[in-house]
Amino acid sequence: MNPVKILVLHGPNLNLLGTREPQVYGSDTLDAINDRVSALAPELGATVVFFQSNHEGELIDRIHQARQEEIKGILFNPGGYTHTSVALRDAVAAVGIPTVEVHLSNVHAREPFRHHSYIAPVAIGQISGFGAEGYLLALRGILAKIK
Ligand code: DQA
Repeated sequence: MNPVKILVLHGPNLNLLGTREPQVYGSDTLDAINDRVSALAPELGATVVFFQSNHEGELIDRIHQARQEEIKGILFNPGGYTHTSVALRDAVAAVGIPTVEVHLSNVHAREPFRHHSYIAPVAIGQISGFGAEGYLLALRGILAKIK
């Protein structure tokens, strides 16, 4: 059977992981997180591609492009855009690709402005508070849903 292709999409400031507020986000770099996801994917019958951007429009373009690439699921950490971006929510809804929202920190235990997500209503689920492990949980979860 062909592997299921998954896009792992990282939003703004996640390129700084490793040095960015490690007490909140952990000390793993983004590359280290991606390596862990890449290592798990073949065991689960998946292939993964990664994209990070600090720009809302680039994230939107990447979501649109996913349709042409037979991407069957998206793991999306929208960073701060989670709490602000109607446009990213519309992009997820427009392509109709099952999407899991991932946060390293537990956004619900933080400042009130992080409690609302524009993405959550168009996602199939949300994982928040498990650090880098959350991406691995999300990969298992999305594959179980779409296979
Ligand atoms: C985050 C949580 C967001 O509130 C924050 O703006 C981020 C990271 C997380 O992974 O915990 O940039 O998405």
